[in-house]
Amino acid sequence: MTVARVLLDAGAAPLRERFELREGGPGATREQILELVPGSAALVADPTVPVDAELLDAAGPELKLVANFAVGYDNVDLDACRTRGITVTNTPDVLTEATAELALGLTLAAARHFSASEADLRAGRWTGWDPAAYRGLELRGATVGVVGMGRIGRRYAALARALGAKVLYSGPAAKPDPERVLGARRAELDELLEAADVVSLHAPAKPETRHLIGAPELDLIGPHGVLVNTSRGSLVDEAALAAALAEGRLGAAGLDVYEAEPGVSKQLLDAPRTVLLPHIGSATVKARDEMARKVAENVIAVLEGASPPNPVT
Ligand code: DGY
Repeated sequence: MTVARVLLDAGAAPLRERFELREGGPGATREQILELVPGSAALVADPTVPVDAELLDAAGPELKLVANFAVGYDNVDLDACRTRGITVTNTPDVLTEATAELALGLTLAAARHFSASEADLRAGRWTGWDPAAYRGLELRGATVGVVGMGRIGRRYAALARALGAKVLYSGPAAKPDPERVLGARRAELDELLEAADVVSLHAPAKPETRHLIGAPELDLIGPHGVLVNTSRGSLVDEAALAAALAEGRLGAAGLDVYEAEPGVSKQLLDAPRTVLLPHIGSATVKARDEMARKVAENVIAVLEGASPPNPVT
């Protein structure tokens, strides 16, 4: 079997005990992965590895499983897997806490201008306590809009609620549990964007969610609003976001994901009131180890003829 790039030891060790493992390593290029994969019964991919028809065909007819080392699977062409009878699995639940906590961290960091104020201090521009400087938003009493009330959105909403925020949410279905437990209210996206002080994105990347947040939506969030994205970069029109920040039409942004990772546009790097992190939502020791273990459980199940615990297709 093939690990396209890297699987942490928590998952690689049990797989090495059972199967011959070919590993691309952290710097594996597309060409190297294409050379590694022929004849594999399972392929471990991650958000940086596009799994498309070309890669599946390079693997050949023995490929039974694509085990994605992530909860998101927008890097995997599901139709191409389905037509070839290949199972796809992911790693849900174990990264919910880590990602929701990071979204809360980004919320606080963006709302309270962590990046700009720290940059000023480090550059020697801090001239002392200033009553008018770096004034931000506090969460108690604020309205937080959760776009996508899935597992991570639900946990983020609970964390924001614990700090005293009111919760609105949008999404394809009503969610009785957060409505009952957190007092969350479902709203149409536009109503949510207009009413929320903070908008946090937790919807999956798919064609329907591409550029869900563009110039008109950013204008609804407005000059005092904060946008947080820990989901996928494709949900936000990054050029429109950079322009809204530069022109003062959006209050602040906290981002962990980008449209063309690992590339980040110069406009966004230069945008004011912005906290930018390098896709570390699930990067806790616990979450990443548990994700790796889940990958192994899925691979072992499929290669031993059982149903995988986390099927996507
Ligand atoms: C996921 O699991 O989809 C994350 O983005 C990886 O950290």
